[in-house]
Amino acid sequence: MCDRGAVVTGIDASAGMLEQARRRLGDDADLRVADLADPLLFPDGAFDDVVASLVLHYLQDWGPTPAELRRVLAPGGRLIASVEHPFANSLGQCLAGQETNYFQTRNRTEEWTMGGQTAQLSFWDRPLHAMTEAFTAAGFRISVISEPPALPSAQDLAPEQSV
Ligand SMILES: C[S@@+](CC[C@H](N)C(=O)[O-])C[C@H]1O[C@@H](n2cnc3c(N)ncnc32)[C@H](O)[C@@H]1O
Repeated sequence: MCDRGAVVTGIDASAGMLEQARRRLGDDADLRVADLADPLLFPDGAFDDVVASLVLHYLQDWGPTPAELRRVLAPGGRLIASVEHPFANSLGQCLAGQETNYFQTRNRTEEWTMGGQTAQLSFWDRPLHAMTEAFTAAGFRISVISEPPALPSAQDLAPEQSV
């Protein structure tokens, strides 16, 4: 992005993740520790595009955040967001014989071990209609909902999850 002339600003709750981003983006990017659940510290219409990659599913309340993302976009601006597939976890829980209600917004915790460290991650699963309604309520018009297949290399790593 930066090498093609974009002026990049990034936020994350984790200083460590921002260090990773700094390595990729270089010194010119404006990277700040911030909680996406809080009001964003940017003026109205500050950005042409906002990318929210695999982060919204950590937030319980999808009222304020889409409205804030909409506020900081310039007229005609775009939000490109990716989230965990809304059906995937519910389907997995059903197949495992666990009780779940797809139509509710529900908390899910998972233990992850990476780089020798173990942590409990807390996710908020919600149905597809709750996602689309949160964006339209914030004033977005949805152009595309896509379900990209896994890369072939990912399918080699987890063949049991391939489609
Ligand atoms: C799966 S990682 C995705 C990282 C990066 N966006 C990407 O796509 O490579 C999830 C990220 O969301 C961040 N995160 C989770 N909750 C957040 C919040 N409330 N505010 C800001 N960042 C948050 C975590 O610190 C983590 O870096």
